[in-house]
Amino acid sequence: MRRTHATSLLTLITTQTRAMTTTCRTVDWRWLETTPSTMDAAKDLLKERGDTDARPLAVATAHQTKGRGTRGRSWTDDGRGNVALTVAFPSEIPLAPITLLPLRVGTVVIDALNDSRLSLKWPNDVLLEGGKVAGILVESDGNAIYVGVGVNVASAPAVPSAGPDRGRRAAKIPGDAFAIAQSIADGLGAWSQDRDDATSVITDWSARVDWAADLELRETGELVKPVRLLPDGRLKVRGAGGERALVADYLL
Ligand code: BTN
Repeated sequence: MRRTHATSLLTLITTQTRAMTTTCRTVDWRWLETTPSTMDAAKDLLKERGDTDARPLAVATAHQTKGRGTRGRSWTDDGRGNVALTVAFPSEIPLAPITLLPLRVGTVVIDALNDSRLSLKWPNDVLLEGGKVAGILVESDGNAIYVGVGVNVASAPAVPSAGPDRGRRAAKIPGDAFAIAQSIADGLGAWSQDRDDATSVITDWSARVDWAADLELRETGELVKPVRLLPDGRLKVRGAGGERALVADYLL
């Protein structure tokens, strides 16, 4: 009898805590057990919500069946337990130029993960000892900007080294996927309420990059050294052919 009472009290407290953490937030938080892709779920849920709420809409899931990455690649999660999150921003993003957005998202994500071993690779991959722990995808449908974040927590899926889905080796960072998703969503929600300027994006981003690491150009396999970030978000690099500026989506 006592035990039943204690158990139901615990259930009540847990339920109330979960309810509080889902209502008192800077974002409109939604959780799905499984979904093909949180990018598409966020688009549908935002349409359904209409403009009844000005907050960013955050959609997270324990498992995606058709997750997507940059350049049309797929993003897999080997089952449950990794972070798959999309935050939809229906109103204006407080940042110009918009090409800096992926870089700002990278600093918000790495700060939410809060592990000094992590670094950023241009434009916004989060790396742990050379392996990719988190990837970021930014899409727009004309009504809103959708920021997708995948973090390998429970598993680091095998990444092919050839073919259309080829990419960098995956790594994982242990933690509670639900709490990590909420912390990233809160970080993005809080950021979207502030004014932001190009100089602080560049400074913050530059402080989290491993400048000694070579970058491999996707198209040619050439190794280049990062030199500095330009005010519009392009990366100045130095290679065999001298210096040049890269625009996003070139690297492994
Ligand atoms: C990359 O290729 O590095 C970007 C990966 C982005 C994956 C995330 S997981 C949550 C959201 N839903 C998706 O289908 N993709 C993004």
